[in-house]
Amino acid sequence: MFFRFHHLVLSLLNFTDAMYPTMTKKFKRHLITSALPYANGPLHIGHLAGVYIPSDIYTRYLRQKGEDVISVCGSDEHGVPITLKARQEGVSPQSIVDRYHAMNKEAFEKLRIAFDIYARTTSPVHFETASGIFKTLYDKGNFIEKTTEQYYDEETGQFLADRYITGTCPHCGYEKAYGDQCEQCGSSLSPTELINPKSAVSGNTPVLKKTRHWYLPLNEYEPFLRDWILEGHKEWKPNVYGQCKSWLDQGLQPRAVSRDLDWGVPVPVSGAEGKVLYVWFDAPIGYISATKELTPEWEKYWKDPETRMIHFIGKDNIVFHCIIFPAMLKAEGSYILPDNVPANEFLNLEGDKISTSRNWAVWLHEYLEEFPGKEDVLRYVLCANAPETKDNDFTWKDFQAKNNNELVAVLGNFVNRALVLTTKHFEGKVPERGVLGDYDEEVLSALTDIRKRVSASLDQFRFREALHEAMNMARLGNKYLSDTEPWSVIKTDKERVGTILNISLQITANLSILLEPFLPFTTEKIRKFIGFPSHEWLLIGTKELLKPGHPVSRPDYLFEKIGDEVIEKQVDKLLRSKQENNRQTGNLETVKPEITYDDFAKLDIRIGTILAAEKVPKTKKLLKLQIDTGLDKRTVVSGIAEYFTPEEIIGRQVSILVNLAPRKIRGMESQGMILMAEDSEGKLYFVTPGEKVPEGIMVK
Ligand code: 2FM
Ligand code: ZN
Repeated sequence: MFFRFHHLVLSLLNFTDAMYPTMTKKFKRHLITSALPYANGPLHIGHLAGVYIPSDIYTRYLRQKGEDVISVCGSDEHGVPITLKARQEGVSPQSIVDRYHAMNKEAFEKLRIAFDIYARTTSPVHFETASGIFKTLYDKGNFIEKTTEQYYDEETGQFLADRYITGTCPHCGYEKAYGDQCEQCGSSLSPTELINPKSAVSGNTPVLKKTRHWYLPLNEYEPFLRDWILEGHKEWKPNVYGQCKSWLDQGLQPRAVSRDLDWGVPVPVSGAEGKVLYVWFDAPIGYISATKELTPEWEKYWKDPETRMIHFIGKDNIVFHCIIFPAMLKAEGSYILPDNVPANEFLNLEGDKISTSRNWAVWLHEYLEEFPGKEDVLRYVLCANAPETKDNDFTWKDFQAKNNNELVAVLGNFVNRALVLTTKHFEGKVPERGVLGDYDEEVLSALTDIRKRVSASLDQFRFREALHEAMNMARLGNKYLSDTEPWSVIKTDKERVGTILNISLQITANLSILLEPFLPFTTEKIRKFIGFPSHEWLLIGTKELLKPGHPVSRPDYLFEKIGDEVIEKQVDKLLRSKQENNRQTGNLETVKPEITYDDFAKLDIRIGTILAAEKVPKTKKLLKLQIDTGLDKRTVVSGIAEYFTPEEIIGRQVSILVNLAPRKIRGMESQGMILMAEDSEGKLYFVTPGEKVPEGIMVK
């Protein structure tokens, strides 16, 4: 009789272990590093999706498996962008990094990104460690010293390294390329390659002046790097392996590891006054100093070949983590090299590149303020959409859909049904299990299969796939409840319902472990509802995690639906920032795609008069308006209450779109839409004719 269900379980689980070769070498411990974000601005969703969500999931997973693992991160507090920002604001670089270090640390904590330490590269331990490594390499004769001509700003009396200089990219013609990189075509550049170079400080054309620097001769490490990466790490992600291969095939050049700057770790040799370590020399050493600050046993994580080091980074950091830093470590001689570098591609936002300078981003501190209690929703959406193999797009519509159709409708719904039915029919105690049918058995044994599939995906850094597989457990639970219909069966066979709920609660307990790496807030809640503290990975698949009689509580909702108005507000905010940016840069581009006259002609806009207005109770923004459109008198619900009181707008003439399909807003039918103009602060203005006109005349 249960035959018809077999197909479902099997189709969800067509899996064999052999499909997923796992790590061959067994390591004693793991060191997880996540790219140190620059402390010169707030973090956005691109950072999270590309680096920190994957590293957090992986770290949590290893911890659940009982592995020895530490996860280190911190602020990258050197480099030219920080000093430029300080100069712009007229403050010290230290005050810039203090501000953003605190801000970013807090955002990570609020999202429960599981770092064991969030250090800083301005710490004394870091200065000591970074100069120590430079000194070792210097003493061993690993550097070449070279005097070259570099651009110099005579007015400000400084050499113009990296982003201190801008000009036209020789490869793509972009006029605002930096001295170290063109952000348009991605080429890495040196200042002397720029056409028409200008000082970023004064705007002057610089002159060339001699200066002495230390270079790491990367060319000497080429044979080692070829062998280590191209032969030894064919399992690296294709995007990472491919980038390394292309760097190596182009041939490596000596790379300067010092700069003429007054912000950074001073070059620790005599005669190097006014020179500091290049930010990309000191930043990765930040992983080492963070580990030192975390534990006196730091050396076992860095120097024992039985430690497995994994660098989580974005694609723009590949060369530094796969070529330059390994060459530095190799030169030093006593450190291990990364076992894998699962770099991600980039996340775009609503079809456009995320950009700090254009304010085209979803900032984490703003999200956390505007969506309290929805940390896991962001974690979920960013993992489900992670740019693992190609650039990917975040849209607010998709955010809403994933929340409403997956988190609410699948996971929340299943857990809620299992617990509510248990409290209703079995006084909140896990019921006894009667005789199990084939379907029951099959569902229970599917749990282990799901664990294996999730493990296999996580072992290969396929986080999207892992999350999808994990959600299959909730899908399975939902399907099981819908197929077995305990709410109907209760009328005739309470014992059978006991069995169904027992199994559903076992699935719930299994979910609370399985989803922990992805959704730590939600799984903590579930574990509270079911009074089940452990989240040991290997327990997943256990068929009786909760014994009969074990008390469970009536749940609060795990997730709530997100309405259209919430999403519209976010999209509007982005459009406003695009408009504002266009205004500032004198860019008169439209922000929406071109339409034809026929598209416009579909709109039936009339002049109407507001006859009555009242606040919609329990809302901040909504007014319910009665409008004489000349055609009829109708109700429109409008989000203008923050700017207008009902009294002041009665009698006013407005433009109203009358052929918009009616929409339900807070249970009221809104028949049309009032047109409003909105400025960059979000303030609203009516679009009103210059003189009083008859109602019903058309706007065209
Ligand atoms: O790209 C960045 O944001 C760098 N601050 C990453 C540094 S990673 C490491 F090397 F510190
Ligand atoms: Zn370019």
